[in-house]
Amino acid sequence: MRMTQRNWRSLTGCTAILAAGVLLASCGNKGGDSVTPAGGTGTGTGTSTTPAAKDITVGFSQIGAESAWRTAETQSIKDEAKKRGINLQFSDAQGKQENQIKAIRSFVAQKVDVIALAPVVSTGWEPVLREAKAAKIPVILTDRSVDVSDPSLYATFIGSDFVEEGRRAGRFMAKDTGGKATIVELQGTPGAAPAIDRQKGFAEIIKQNPGMKIIKSQSGDFSRSKGKEVMESFLKSPEGKSITALYSHNDDMAMGAIQAIEESGRKPGTDIKVVSVDGIKDGLQSLVDKKNNCVVECNPLLGPDLFDAAAKLKAGGTLPKHIAPKETVFDQTNAKAALPNRKY
Ligand code: AHR
Repeated sequence: MRMTQRNWRSLTGCTAILAAGVLLASCGNKGGDSVTPAGGTGTGTGTSTTPAAKDITVGFSQIGAESAWRTAETQSIKDEAKKRGINLQFSDAQGKQENQIKAIRSFVAQKVDVIALAPVVSTGWEPVLREAKAAKIPVILTDRSVDVSDPSLYATFIGSDFVEEGRRAGRFMAKDTGGKATIVELQGTPGAAPAIDRQKGFAEIIKQNPGMKIIKSQSGDFSRSKGKEVMESFLKSPEGKSITALYSHNDDMAMGAIQAIEESGRKPGTDIKVVSVDGIKDGLQSLVDKKNNCVVECNPLLGPDLFDAAAKLKAGGTLPKHIAPKETVFDQTNAKAALPNRKY
């Protein structure tokens, strides 16, 4: 059955690719979603040894561009597709799950070989993933996982262990503050796997330290401007003066919050200890500038792993259910050395 479908796909591949633009234009543009053939301008991530599979079409539904991390992930995937000659159909959902669902449906209609999905939130995917499964199109989750009762609805999840990232952040903060801190937390997008899991991992460690408490926790939606806005409101609240530490679910929100702390007349990194997640250039620079104390790395350069996995699936192979990138923890002692080679 699978072979029959593959043969049919290669016979009709050109027609499908030509039809793609029309289908995507009609399916994707309502509500601001856009779907474009990708593979333009980047520098290449260059870390893979798996040979290119030039006859693969991959539809990638990306969340949007809320953070520098997200832009780096998009670039890594576009660059790697270009390098390998893969036909990448790229869809930017502008932060909306409904746009991602539309994009997946259009990829199914195009009969792409593989669908890659970076899900904005973790729930609500079962129906559309069932449609992809019924069409025998494997789905690769890139960077964020989903909550589904049937794990066969996706082939693999390529991305970080967000709970462990939260724990790493908590461990650093516990050590750095001697286990005494009045903490505010900037959370990511509500319902997003990294927001849920980074909160969980961090809370686990805080509970083990009776001298540490989280007094406020609010979403800054993973964006710099909202991170600043929410931190300003934390600082202006009646408990504002008692804050001694900030835990931010990503670097972008931390960058906004650092600005808010400085504008309030306090010193980020000293008066208020800062721990964030991602490892973008600005995050590492804030460690060098001693305005931040710890950045837990989350690797967005997923292009090589994604297309290795897609090629394996296309060849009929199987994959582990989770493929985790290599990651580290940066502090004020090792950030400077890492900056010159930082790609994002
Ligand atoms: O899913 C990964 C998270 O999403 C990154 O930490 C954040 O910056 C992004 O927007």
